[in-house]
Formats: sequence, structure tokens, C-alpha cells
Amino acid sequence: MKLTMVGAGRVGSTTLFQLVLEGGIQEFVIVDVRKEVAEGEALDLRHGLAQSYRTRIVAGDYDATADSDIVVITAGIPRKPGDTRLDLLRTNVELMREILDNVVRYSPNALLFVVSNPVDVLTYQALRQSGFPEQRVFGLGTVLDTTRFRSLLAERLEVSPDSVIAYMLGEHGDSMVPLLSSASVAGVPLDQFPGYSPQMVQEVVEATRYGGAEVIKRKGGTFYSVAPSICAVLRAVRWDLKQVLPVTSLVDGPLGLSNMCLSLPCVVGKHGRERVLVPPMNDQEREALRHSHRVLREAADSVGLP
Ligand code: 2OP
Repeated sequence: MKLTMVGAGRVGSTTLFQLVLEGGIQEFVIVDVRKEVAEGEALDLRHGLAQSYRTRIVAGDYDATADSDIVVITAGIPRKPGDTRLDLLRTNVELMREILDNVVRYSPNALLFVVSNPVDVLTYQALRQSGFPEQRVFGLGTVLDTTRFRSLLAERLEVSPDSVIAYMLGEHGDSMVPLLSSASVAGVPLDQFPGYSPQMVQEVVEATRYGGAEVIKRKGGTFYSVAPSICAVLRAVRWDLKQVLPVTSLVDGPLGLSNMCLSLPCVVGKHGRERVLVPPMNDQEREALRHSHRVLREAADSVGLP
């Protein structure tokens, strides 16, 4: 598998570090407008290979990315303290336009995986601009928020995070929707699990919703929760796991939502986002998802995305 990482910032480089340690990808190409930084990352990663697995890692221009199997886009202006993800919209839509032109030209058969924010709108832009089939264009979406949610719930319930089945859906942003009605700990409904209280869950929901902003306020960026979330999606693709992950992708029909990318649980495998699932939900959750969709659709309209 040949993977291109566009953007060698903290998210891109932390993800590459984890991917190299995990092994299983034969070729990496790192592209960044700061060419020296991309070269430095490639060199640093190559120096460590004797402690992991043989692989090829280069920094280069888009011609070096030709025929990538998957292109991960992390480039963009990051959120600054106090910014909402939508504040970044205009700048990153412009940057994305240029990136996509190049990516699509050199890798017309690739899967496109978007991480840059606002991720739902940029994934939608990637879908429309590339003209790729919808299965091949998807973004990190609320995989990250779901990771945070499960980690924090597990902490409070004193269980392993992999026993917590609880999704954040909708926008990767302030309108994200916790799916509490079907949340469980290994099948035991969340509200029947020892340690549950509505107040505890509400605290965890808020800590998740504003978790990214809290980290940014303190250390200027988030990446240690982001990289493993990205790697989970890439693992599902690489090993064709058909894993259910709430990536953001085109939702056009389910729940009466149309023509926008947002997160619902999806089957992810070697063809990318292979299927969108519609989980059971109550009226309040359904309405919250509609709200999330409206927020995103207005953001897309504001930058003229059809
Ligand atoms: C996060 O939630 C910045 O969107 C990024 O960590």
C-alpha cells in the first residue's frame, strides 16, 4: 500500500509515527508546503526504521505521490484558541482546492481521507471537487469525538474503553450528537451500568464536546487523540476489517438528511466507506442530528458548495 500524507504538521507527523510503528504500509510520501519540514520528518522516521519495519518513506512534490492507494489530508490552518472549526472554513476551502487538484491528477484511483477542519465541509468539498465515487471519499469526523467519549466514559465507569459502545455522531464540532439511547458497556445498557448517573454522563458529553478546545487552549493543538483515531480508520482500510466507525461521508437519504457529509456509523474496509448504517435513535437524537446537518449545510452554502 502506498500512502500519501499531505500536511506534515503535528497531526500528520504524529500519525506517520504511529503508522510506521504499526507496520504494514510499504510506501509513504510526505507532502508539505514547507518542504524542509517534510524532508526532516521523512529523514527522522527513516532513521528509526531499524526498530520497526522496513518501509519506504520519502518527502516530495505531488508527482512523487502518483498512484497512491490512499491520500490522507491533514494540511490546513489549525484552530487557534477561541476559534470554532467553522471559523477556519474559508481559508481551508481555498487550500483544499489546490491540494485536491494535485491529488486527483496524480492518484485518480485513490481513497481520499480528510482530517483537516472543518472536516465535514472539507470532506464534502473533496467529494464534489474530485468527482470520485462516494465510497472513496471520507473523513475523520466524529471518530475522534467517539474516541474521546469512550475514553472518558470508561474512566468514570472504571472499565476498559474497548468495552464501551457509545457514539458521537453528526458534525465534528459543537453540534455533535451523543447517541445515548443505544449506548452500552459490552451490551449492558449504559443507564443500567453501576456508576451511571445522568449528571455523570452529561459531564462526559460536555467534556467531549469541548475537549478539543480545552486541549488547544492549554497546548496549542491536539494530536495524541487524533493520530490513533486516524490510524484506526486506516487499519480498517488496510486490513479490510469492515469495522464500524463513525467517519464523515456523504449522507444522502437516511433520516431525511441529504447532500452533506456528516458522521453516522459506517462500515469501513478496503473500498473505503463501504456502507452507511442508521442506528436506532430517539426523537431527540434524530432532531439533534437534523440540527447538525443544518449547521453543516449552511456552512457549505456560505462557501458556495453545491
Ligand atoms: C479536535 O477536536 C482540533 O478538531 C480537532 O481535536
